[in-house]
Amino acid sequence: MKQHLQETTDFLRSEGFEKPEIGIVLGTGLGQLIQEIEIEKEVSYADIPHFPQATVEFHSGRLIYGTLSGKKVIVMSGRFHLYEGYSQWEVTYGIRTMHQLGIQTLLISNAAGAINLSYKKGDLMVIDDHLNLQGGSPLAFANVGEYGERFADMLEPYSKKINGLLKSIAKENDINLQEGIYAGVFGPQLETRAEYRMLQILEVDAVGMSTVPEVIVAKHLNLPCAAVSVLTDECDPKNLAPVDIEDIIRVAGEAEPKMILLFKELIKKI
Ligand code: HPA
Repeated sequence: MKQHLQETTDFLRSEGFEKPEIGIVLGTGLGQLIQEIEIEKEVSYADIPHFPQATVEFHSGRLIYGTLSGKKVIVMSGRFHLYEGYSQWEVTYGIRTMHQLGIQTLLISNAAGAINLSYKKGDLMVIDDHLNLQGGSPLAFANVGEYGERFADMLEPYSKKINGLLKSIAKENDINLQEGIYAGVFGPQLETRAEYRMLQILEVDAVGMSTVPEVIVAKHLNLPCAAVSVLTDECDPKNLAPVDIEDIIRVAGEAEPKMILLFKELIKKI
């Protein structure tokens, strides 16, 4: 495993992915940030040794390197989900790669459903904490001790400092930024009425199918991390509507300029 990571990072360094400061993972429907980057290098996942391959067709599956708000960034355009059949190791391989390349901060975005019904479709939510409901851990492997503590603590998986910056940037720019708990589920099926009710009882604010393994690995690697959800649908068990993935992507796209502004301003300040 270590050997693979080494070969992956050696390859990317040879391609010019030098001294990145910040890693960014872009969620479903949230690819426009790339247009703001002065791109220096771009590699398709298919061409990176040992990198998992993207399967969901609306993810382009590229690793991008360049400058954003004056800092060197690496962007994962296309992430790996458990629901696509990837292992926990594969789902978090990009995080380990970016860490090994030297990033000092990880920023994550995702699309999520609003469980807290005072939050509305199109709102952004900074994640304050999470529930891992995915039935597994990216740290559950024999030689995890070679990468960090086996019993990693999860005291502050989401950096309070970065979240504070995000909240002040939102305030300065009149962005209504919610804050809350994200539940990571396995997917790919959406939740049943009973599951949405359960999530309400658990006092979750949003639900999605990603992010949790990435954040667990970041915490394990002592990599400061923040994550912002775009709330793309309202999950009211009393008024359950059929899922409309096109609508989820459309709402994510409409909310995206707010996310881009938040990330660009944040990067200036970290
Ligand atoms: N459930 C799970 N994942 C999601 C949802 C949802 O309602 N909306 C966007 N991603």
